[in-house]
Amino acid sequence: MSNSDRPEIEASTVIRNIGQLVTISQQPLTGAGGPLQVISDAALAVHRGKIVWIGQDNDAEPLFQHSRSRSDGITIIDAEGAVITPGLVDSHTHLVFAGDRSEEFHLRRQGVSYGELLAQGRGILTTMKATREADSETLTALAQRRLDSMRHYGTTTVEVKTGYGLDTITEETCLRIINSLNSLESMPSSLPDRMRVVPTFLGAHSVPPEYREKRQAYVDLIVEEMLPSFVGLASFCDVFCEREAFSLDECRRILARAKELHYGLKIHADQLSPSGGARLAAELGATSADHLDFASDEDLDAMREAGVVATLLPGCSYTLRTPYPSARRFLDHGLHVALATDFNPGTSYCENMQTMLGLAMSAMHMSLDEALTAATINGARALGLQDEIGSLEIGKRCELTLWSIHDYQEIGYHFGVNLVHSVLRL
Ligand code: NIG
Ligand code: FE
Repeated sequence: MSNSDRPEIEASTVIRNIGQLVTISQQPLTGAGGPLQVISDAALAVHRGKIVWIGQDNDAEPLFQHSRSRSDGITIIDAEGAVITPGLVDSHTHLVFAGDRSEEFHLRRQGVSYGELLAQGRGILTTMKATREADSETLTALAQRRLDSMRHYGTTTVEVKTGYGLDTITEETCLRIINSLNSLESMPSSLPDRMRVVPTFLGAHSVPPEYREKRQAYVDLIVEEMLPSFVGLASFCDVFCEREAFSLDECRRILARAKELHYGLKIHADQLSPSGGARLAAELGATSADHLDFASDEDLDAMREAGVVATLLPGCSYTLRTPYPSARRFLDHGLHVALATDFNPGTSYCENMQTMLGLAMSAMHMSLDEALTAATINGARALGLQDEIGSLEIGKRCELTLWSIHDYQEIGYHFGVNLVHSVLRL
């Protein structure tokens, strides 16, 4: 078909001169090669925030004459030969907290384990104390700074959990802060810089000290008071299913109530010991089960059957110096594997998804294709957003990461530096 025969496309923005467009598309595209569908010398057009056209830069010009002649015009962005991928999706973080736990990090170098610290009432409860003592402005400023850092390293969507308040008032304050991170008021920056923030309620992170002798009453509080009053403030409910945290039965009770209230479900599962969390995720139809260091083959089969995403968090293995789960095992079981930072002050104090991509390739036996898929479309899947974001396809939102590299194969290979130029949300 000659250019003049082509239908014109209405677009508000066209990004041209893209060195490599890594689409992570689920649909084969004509002319695209390899499982990741890398299009060299590409262009991409956007209208009303959605991708309307993807193709060769050479073909872009004639398609948008109509948009050009409109009075409000068309914005052309020159990508200057950059590599573009879907925006990175960090589907598991705990970024609203005050204080830090560097002391515990160094104690662990001397041989004290994370589980021992938790059992001594340190760990999560140390951060809970600092978080309860901080005012809302301080917590918001800390969260905003961390979010800015994540964006700087290429993340466009981030899930954020509560879990350091552990009483109704502080958990609600943290949820309101997380929701405010999405709004324009708290964002002095312009629209393209804003991030998509997904709020998760994690009241079942640890039993707070005032309930130590009556833990059942804390579970009642979550089920009877917190969950019903946080409907609309959180998209997901998460639980820490572990010997030192909440038992399988406690988690089942909390998540079953959350499901009745239409929260999506997530589980910190089988991180420190075989807790049964992965199996519970399958039983209740959770969106994701995360960590999974001790999940058995049968657990993984059950997760696959139930469509639960397996989220792997290599920052924890790095920090706790525990063996990295082999991603191959999860992939060979046919699971969708997502990668996330688990940014938190205890087990993974890292905002950078590029570090996770590198660890996935160097320590978890993932290929570049698998790792990028895990950090984009499968992260989106772990948030139930796979129809909106996570790949660059017609009809999806335009949320991109621009890399200051000439070949996407540098990702993971050139490490310890920031390869991201910027992110763009149109
Ligand atoms: O995902 N495992 C539970 N929660 C976090 C750690 C939180 C903390 O130590 O503060 C995690 O590893
Ligand atoms: Fe976590």
